[in-house]
Formats: sequence, C-alpha cells, structure tokens
Amino acid sequence: MNHFMFFLFIFLSLSVSHGEQSELICSHQPIIALAGNDVILPCYLEPPIDSSSETVTWTRPGLDPKYIHVYRDGQPVNRSQNPSYTNRTALFEDELMNGNISLKLSRVKISDGGKYFCILEPMMKEASINLTVGFTAAQPELICSHQPITAMAGDDVILPCHLEPPISVSDETVEWTRPDLDPKYIHFHQDGRLMFKYQNPSYYRRTRLFVDELMTGNVSMKIFKVKVSDTGRYQCALPSLQKEASIQLFVGVVSTPIIEVVSNNSGSVVLQCESKGWYPEPEVVWLDGEGNLLSAGPTETVRGPDDLYNVSSRVTVEKRHSNNFTCRVQQKDINQTRETHIHVTADLPIHQSSSYMIGNIIIIIIIIIIIIIIIIFIILLVIVIIIIPLKRKKINKTLESFMPKHQNTPLTPMI
Ligand SMILES: *[C@@H]1O[C@H](CO)[C@@H](O)[C@H](O)[C@H]1NC(C)=O
Ligand SMILES: *[C@@H]1O[C@H](CO)[C@@H](O)[C@H](O)[C@H]1NC(C)=O
Ligand SMILES: *[C@@H]1O[C@H](CO)[C@@H](O)[C@H](O)[C@H]1NC(C)=O
Ligand SMILES: *[C@@H]1O[C@H](CO)[C@@H](O)[C@H](O)[C@H]1NC(C)=O
Ligand SMILES: *[C@@H]1O[C@H](CO)[C@@H](O)[C@H](O)[C@H]1NC(C)=O
Ligand SMILES: *[C@@H]1O[C@H](CO)[C@@H](O)[C@H](O)[C@H]1NC(C)=O
Ligand SMILES: *[C@@H]1O[C@H](CO)[C@@H](O)[C@H](O)[C@H]1NC(C)=O
Ligand SMILES: *[C@@H]1O[C@H](CO)[C@@H](O)[C@H](O)[C@H]1NC(C)=O
Ligand SMILES: *[C@@H]1O[C@H](CO)[C@@H](O)[C@H](O)[C@H]1NC(C)=O
Repeated sequence: MNHFMFFLFIFLSLSVSHGEQSELICSHQPIIALAGNDVILPCYLEPPIDSSSETVTWTRPGLDPKYIHVYRDGQPVNRSQNPSYTNRTALFEDELMNGNISLKLSRVKISDGGKYFCILEPMMKEASINLTVGFTAAQPELICSHQPITAMAGDDVILPCHLEPPISVSDETVEWTRPDLDPKYIHFHQDGRLMFKYQNPSYYRRTRLFVDELMTGNVSMKIFKVKVSDTGRYQCALPSLQKEASIQLFVGVVSTPIIEVVSNNSGSVVLQCESKGWYPEPEVVWLDGEGNLLSAGPTETVRGPDDLYNVSSRVTVEKRHSNNFTCRVQQKDINQTRETHIHVTADLPIHQSSSYMIGNIIIIIIIIIIIIIIIIFIILLVIVIIIIPLKRKKINKTLESFMPKHQNTPLTPMI
C-alpha cells in the first residue's frame, strides 16, 4: 500500500511538473444555447492533469463583479459571485481529476451571451470561450436566397446567406463550395481568415466574406468580376452547426440581334435574325406589329469554345400589308431581352416603278391626244375660216360664168 501511495505521489508530482506543458483548451467554436436551456462551456487540460485541488475561476470581463464561478479548496466560493449567476453555475467535480474544468450553466438567459474566461490560477493558465444565446426555441436556420442571383459578366455580385435567428459565427468555419468543381472550395473561412490552400484557383483573389457581419450570422459571399464560368449552384455550409444551404448564380452575356433580308421577292420577304455572344442560351421569337408571335423556323444555335452561344432564326413574312416586325432574343434566367425592328413595306418597289412607267405612258398618251386634238381643231379652224370662204368665191365665179352676161348688168326695173 505504501508503495502504491509512493508511486501515486511520483505520478502526481510528475503530472504537476508536466503542468507547465499542459494546455488549457476551451472550445474555439462559440457555444450556442437557447434561452431557458442548460449549457456546458467545455474547457479541459491537455494532457489531462488533476485539477481538483486547484483554484478554478470562471469570469466574464466587463461584468461587475466579473466572477461567474470560483472553486477553491474543493468547494465553490459564493461570496464574490456575480448575483445574476446565483444558483445557476457548477463545475463537474468528479471530472476535475481528469483536468475537465467545464462549467455548467443552468437556465440560460439572453444576457448570458458573451465571452467567458476560464482561469487556472496557480498554473497561470487562461482560455476563453464564447457563448451565444438564441432568441427562439427553434434551431437556427441557414437561409440563402431562393431566387437565383443574376449578374452580367464583369459585375461584382453578392450571394446572400444568413442565419436566422442572427447568431454569431465569427469563430466558425464557413465553407462556400461548388460541388461540380474540383477542387470544390470557393471560399474556405477558418480561424477568422480565408484558407487559400483549399481554394479553387479560378476564384483566387475574387471572393470575400463580410467578416464584420459574421457576428450577426451573415455569411454572404461576394464574388468580384464574375465570369460566365462562375454560373452554377453554390453551397454554403457551417459544419459546426451542421447547416447547409445552396444558391444559384447565373452570369449572363447579351448582345443585340441583327436582322438581315435573306430573300425579297414580289410576294414575301425572308428575314434572318442573328445574335452572337449570349450566355446562357437564349430563345429567339418573332413578333408582328401587334405583338403577335410569328411561327418561325427552328432556332439555330452554336456554342463557341468561350461558352457563348450564337443564335439565328428565319421567318417568312408576306408583303401584303406593311408591317413592323420584331426579332426578340431573351434569356429568362438572367432576365434579359434584346430586340431589333424591321419595317417591311406593302408598296412593292417593282410595282412602284412599273406603275410609275404606266403613269408616264398615260401622261404621254394624254399629251399626244391633246396635241392631236389641238391639231385637228386647228385644221378644222383653217377649213372653216379660209378654205370654205375661198370655195364660196369659186362657186360664185363659176356660177357667174354660166350665167348670161347681161344678167350680170344690174337689173333695171322693167318699167
Ligand atoms: C439559491 O439557492 C438557495 C438554497 O437552495 C436559496 O436559499 C436561494 O434563495 C437561491 N437564490 C436564488 C437567487 O434563487
Ligand atoms: C454556494 O452556492 C451553491 C449553489 O449554487 C450551494 O450549493 C453551496 O452550498 C453554496 N456554498 C456556500 C459556501 O455557501
Ligand atoms: C467534461 O465533462 C462534461 C460533463 O461530464 C462532459 O460533457 C465533457 O465532455 C467533458 N469534457 C472532456 C474533454 O472530457
Ligand atoms: C469571441 O468573440 C469575440 C468577438 O465577439 C472574438 O473577438 C473572440 O476572438 C472570440 N473568442 C473565442 C475564443 O471564441
Ligand atoms: C449581409 O452583408 C452584405 C454585405 O454587407 C449585405 O449586402 C447583406 O444585405 C447582408 N445580409 C443581411 C441578411 O444582413
Ligand atoms: C459566334 O460569333 C462570333 C462573332 O461573330 C464568332 O467570333 C464566333 O466564332 C461564333 N461562334 C461560333 C461557335 O460560331
Ligand atoms: C416598330 O415597333 C417598335 C415597337 O414595337 C417601335 O419602337 C419602332 O419605332 C417601330 N418601327 C417602325 C419603323 O415603325
Ligand atoms: C426583370 O427586369 C425587369 C426590367 O429590366 C424588371 O422590371 C423585373 O422586375 C425583372 N424581373 C426579375 C424576376 O428580376
Ligand atoms: C426589297 O427590295 C427592294 C429593292 O429591290 C427594296 O426597296 C425593299 O426595301 C426591299 N424590302 C425589304 C423588306 O428589304
């Protein structure tokens, strides 16, 4: 028995001398509790050292008195305790010999939230731990925007995600990933900073979290100068809370369509609409002047090596009525529309020129007719004014020559 005590003594003194190397470790993750529940603030010595005969002090700087729990000479010392913690604190006395100096806090209040210090006075060891007290009985939820986030290539964009209720995740690991990529990490936030070594290189220096906002549970990520290839589903995870949520990002590129006349004959016109450099793939529709959809041929789509789509579509329109046709290229995911109009006239140019010629001919004919009429009129006039009187004289003369000469003498009355 004496030998046993001796070895125990040696062991204990070795342990104490090892105490200098032993580390006091408190949870780096904030402890999250709901108001009214009991919670344990875990702190322990590693490697373990018997602390049952030590003075263990739990404090909260900023409180007056700052003492939450003081354990000395094998029992709690209540005198110096902050009154708001009366009857609510305890150590696990059986665990002290294993170096486990965790504090149990009962019936947690909202005002209990904050930073706690655990101090082992003779060993000059100290560590801190944060307690966050939630407002509702519900588990905090990680909420990311259900609406897809859309942006144009080159823009900066925020992928909004936050915890509800807003509990602090300042000291937590926040993981932003894209499961379709390898490596999948877009932003790996640990120990208060971005861990570059895990990051997918295509996002290098293009992401940030709002570190100041982590205290309010805001884990939104910003991506600078988004590219088409950033389009995808992003996963935000808080491993310590076992929370995960996802959010969709669409990065778009748009361009204005161009309408060309492919063929232009007397009855109809074939129009082609082309728009180059879209992302994601857009749809093409044709509309008439009243906004009615026209039935067009199938849209031809080609995708280039840069991921951008070139689209084209043809439509045949009748020339009967003059009309204003629209080619509309739209992408619903990025809520973008571009359109171009073309006006097709009913007055066909060929008919115009032929009617013009017909008009000319008619005018010429009319002029000729008028000239002819005038000529006929003049001829008639000449006949009436000159030729007829001349003819009269001639007739008179011939008549005279047939008549006796004496008849020509003035008739004297036969008296
Ligand atoms: C703490 O507990 C003691 C004994 O159980 C009791 O007398 C005292 O009123 C309690 N104090 C408070 C503030 O509840
Ligand atoms: C200190 O308070 C605890 C309850 O929190 C009680 O059990 C204990 O007896 C008190 N100790 C002294 C010395 O009053
Ligand atoms: C310390 O004791 C508490 C209560 O028994 C326990 O929940 C906790 O896991 C222990 N910590 C270590 C490091 O053993
Ligand atoms: C506790 O939270 C504060 C900010 O509220 C932070 O500065 C500190 O590093 C945190 N400490 C621990 C141990 O979590
Ligand atoms: C989170 O932080 C970002 C950047 O400051 C801000 O735009 C966003 O509105 C915040 N979200 C919430 C829920 O506070
Ligand atoms: C799409 O159009 C652009 C611009 O004219 C051109 O450079 C590119 O090669 C086209 N892509 C494909 C796949 O044809
Ligand atoms: C065609 O219609 C669009 C609106 O639908 C209008 O902006 C455009 O000016 C019209 N063009 C012509 C030539 O009428
Ligand atoms: C799409 O854009 C239009 C204007 O550009 C805007 O009025 C509308 O609210 C947007 N819709 C969505 C779902 O973002
Ligand atoms: C068809 O061609 C004529 C000329 O040949 C031109 O004046 C007219 O504008 C064209 N129509 C369209 C829709 O381009």
